[in-house]
Amino acid sequence: MSTITILPSLLAADPGRLAEECRRAVAAGANGLHVDIMDGHLVANLSLGPNVVAMARRTVKVPLSTHLMVTHPQHFVDLFIQAGANPLLIHVEAQCDVRAVLRAIRGRGVRAGLTLNPETPVEAVVPFLDEADEILFMSVHPGLGGQAFIPQVLPKIADIRRRAPNLPLSIDGGINRATAVQAAEQGAHVFIIGTFLFQAPDMAAEIVALRRETTAAYGRKTEALE
Ligand code: DX5
Ligand code: ZN
Repeated sequence: MSTITILPSLLAADPGRLAEECRRAVAAGANGLHVDIMDGHLVANLSLGPNVVAMARRTVKVPLSTHLMVTHPQHFVDLFIQAGANPLLIHVEAQCDVRAVLRAIRGRGVRAGLTLNPETPVEAVVPFLDEADEILFMSVHPGLGGQAFIPQVLPKIADIRRRAPNLPLSIDGGINRATAVQAAEQGAHVFIIGTFLFQAPDMAAEIVALRRETTAAYGRKTEALE
């Protein structure tokens, strides 16, 4: 059984109090933090940058899952690793030699993650399963927090879980207790959660409940698909 990992996404934190929000999330029981980087090109928005990763690295001791929603991730690997990113996740839709970038990240001693958008078929990431330390399934169209979960992603998780039984599988976008359980049933165990956690009246209580409910649900539906 894989360990449930809960990663609050700083995109939904109060931007005027980011360091305090990092400490609040870790005190509430988060296993790490997630930092969204957008270039206005791969996605139609801008967000956080390497200075926020560096701030979080100085502020808390947990891993910083850094999600590069950028067209040319190869230009930014060193910058984000120096800032403290680990894992560092790129998109399979990016314009780069995916294998080479994953290897470059691993070569720096950092976990390399590969992300796919909701409409991208799993076949796009299958050639890279041996080169990746994590597969991240987008369950919204990336670029904005607070969107509704796209359930069509669910069978894709089960598909990769069958192909790679031990690979960390994460999900990002529209995650709350109900959608986290649905993803856990299919074999996801890393949950990236923005709006739901940062707007919760009691983040610690939500993390306890998420951990309990996803642990119970993990893998419940993967066997049915064998
Ligand atoms: C979306 C980002 C997510 C975002 C999730 O493009 O990749 O990490 O913060 O936010 P919620 O949980 O609000 O959907
Ligand atoms: Zn993200």
